[in-house]
Amino acid sequence: MRPGSAMPKVPMSPETLELVVSYLVARRGSPAGTVTLPPALAAAPRDTHALYLTFCAGCHGTTGRGDGPNAKFLPIRPAVHTDATTMSQRSDDMLFDAVAAGGYVLGRSNRMPGFGATLTSAEIRGLVRYIRELCRCAGPAWAR
Ligand code: HEC
Repeated sequence: MRPGSAMPKVPMSPETLELVVSYLVARRGSPAGTVTLPPALAAAPRDTHALYLTFCAGCHGTTGRGDGPNAKFLPIRPAVHTDATTMSQRSDDMLFDAVAAGGYVLGRSNRMPGFGATLTSAEIRGLVRYIRELCRCAGPAWAR
């Protein structure tokens, strides 16, 4: 969540890991859990591809294939954004909600973090369009 920092792998049991993740998810939205960006980053207009590389590529991979360096440490594989079969089943709103609020609001893995406090709505809409470019697909007909 903090651009530029390296997250080391911390040895702990799966049970402890689950407790820590649930604790962090539960604290989201409270002032103490809010992520604030360094002023230099917050002030500059942020390009969608750069946002993807900063916030998403660690898990989803630089080209959206679900193969970022963190992927092998996650119990659930990060979504493959280049997978047109799966991504074409998601409406733009579902993708938006997953990015804004996190996987758990859609009943998916809580390892997909919510970025609503870090990114603006316009930036998240930009990322949804970017996922559409990666999959070269559109959402289901009922949602268009
Ligand atoms: C800490 C790792 C991690 C990071 C960082 C991360 N994701 Fe994810 N993401 C996941 C995982 C794991 C899933 C799969 C959740 C599941 O299927 O239960 C996921 C799922 C998703 C989905 C849902 C896809 C679907 O099948 O409906 C979207 C959209 C998504 N991520 C977009 C992003 C974007 C955009 C970013 C950057 C702003 C991002 N993710 C950052 C781990 C991550």
